[in-house]
Amino acid sequence: MLLLLLTLLIIAIVLYGYQSTRKPKNFPPGPRWWPFLGSAPQVQFLRKKTGHLLLATSKLARKYGPIIGLKVGGEQIIIVHGAKALREFLGNEDLIGRPNRKPDTYRSWGKRLGIVMTDGDFWSEQRRFLVRHLREFGFGTNNMSTLLEEESQELVKYLLNETNGGEGVVSVPSLFSTPILNTLWRMLVGVRYDSGDPQLAKLHGILADMFKHMSMVGKLFVSFPILRYLAPEASGYNFYMDVHRRLIDFLYEAIDDHKQMYDPECPRDVMDLYLSMINFNCKLQNSTFSEQQLVITCMDMFIAGSETTSNTLGFCFLYLVLYPEVQRKAQEEIDSVLGRERAPTLSDRQQLPYIECIVWESMRMFVGRGFTLPHRAIRATKLCGYSLPKDVKVVGNFYDSSLGEECGLEDPSAFKPERYLKNGQVVIPDNIIPFGLGKRRCIGEALARGNLFLFITALLQRFNFSQMPNESPPSTDWEDGFTPRPKDFQVVVSER
Ligand code: HEM
Repeated sequence: MLLLLLTLLIIAIVLYGYQSTRKPKNFPPGPRWWPFLGSAPQVQFLRKKTGHLLLATSKLARKYGPIIGLKVGGEQIIIVHGAKALREFLGNEDLIGRPNRKPDTYRSWGKRLGIVMTDGDFWSEQRRFLVRHLREFGFGTNNMSTLLEEESQELVKYLLNETNGGEGVVSVPSLFSTPILNTLWRMLVGVRYDSGDPQLAKLHGILADMFKHMSMVGKLFVSFPILRYLAPEASGYNFYMDVHRRLIDFLYEAIDDHKQMYDPECPRDVMDLYLSMINFNCKLQNSTFSEQQLVITCMDMFIAGSETTSNTLGFCFLYLVLYPEVQRKAQEEIDSVLGRERAPTLSDRQQLPYIECIVWESMRMFVGRGFTLPHRAIRATKLCGYSLPKDVKVVGNFYDSSLGEECGLEDPSAFKPERYLKNGQVVIPDNIIPFGLGKRRCIGEALARGNLFLFITALLQRFNFSQMPNESPPSTDWEDGFTPRPKDFQVVVSER
């Protein structure tokens, strides 16, 4: 009897193993799928060789074409390369879902909550609410402009203090984390922290841990959920849960503080409006508004909005240090339009086209080192002639469209803001899509571009940034995390 059971078990394993190597009909091409492991060994090999997953899949795209079909663990993943295919992918409304996997709900009480990892009617109602009221309370308006101007001037004050009329040394990209966090927090909750505030330091510490130890590509327990029980420490599960719990506790404290001053007749910010919606809808069945959803939405805004912007600034100042002539040209433009005394405002953008080009070139350098967020096919569909089954995961690789030799730009690895200047106008080529496209397009574009413009202008108006003497130039290699991050480097700052 035991022998029979054992034989049946072995047959079942062999059949399952064989089945797991078969690709669906007209599935995008890619390396072969090994039993149980899928294409993970080949991808891992290339990742080791190139140093980055992004470059590994890009290499595979050279061999198989812009759309490649992979399998990691039990999960089928399509990776899309190149501007043409990326545009088709992001514009396809069958591909606007997000992966619906249990591990993504571990952080949110086993429920699909927030904006970034939800889809369907729940996501569209919540996204619509957020976009509408963020605009009402600031995004893209004079309110936002004033707030960003204040924050960029705070950073100028900080550096004046550090340099004390002469020179100082600062670390990049961490220099930008606090001010960027403050702009987000103020937009959402209306509170500003001073740079030494313990609450800010706490939030900063939690997010730094989160970003440093977690990769967008996922931890082992995400691809192999059983590891959550078998090896909770080694698979990254314990760390993941701990850091999310710390952020949730922090956000609950903020909501509780907010409730103390809450006046339903006079909402002060997006959080007040959200609390009104919870009260208003509490008697409705199936309401999508809840405190838990508010907490995870705030978490999503921090995750999506803080590191993206501060790392883009990090790449910007990395290249400004490596290309001092770009810095000089930008300063000439600032001097001629603003002089050295008048602080920049968002309405100066039209008059400072070269700075605007630096913003775009910095976003290209940042985005070109990363992926889109993961999407999911909400129904079976076609992409560039291939058949994609329902629920398959699809991810865009921005390297080939923005930074690789194939992107169509001249000398793509060089930092050349003037590539966007045509007869004094800023013209952005179609392949540069840092905020994505379509229904899943980034909701923070106005805030991000405003922040980048004002921080770059305000800092270059008052300071020169240069390499550390007697050290080799900072590296343009990067670290993979939630988003690409320049390797930490130090910069000499001197007052102009
Ligand atoms: C330089 C800065 C930024 C860049 C390059 C950027 C880029 C992106 C990209 C490429 C996506 C994914 C699109 C997709 O999945 O197809 C995205 C999504 C998103 N971004 Fe941004 N982003 C930036 C800043 C921000 C900021 C400041 C915020 C918040 C205030 C924000 C909030 C979001 C949210 C909530 C999503 C998810 C939207 C959804 O799933 O419906 N981002 N962003």
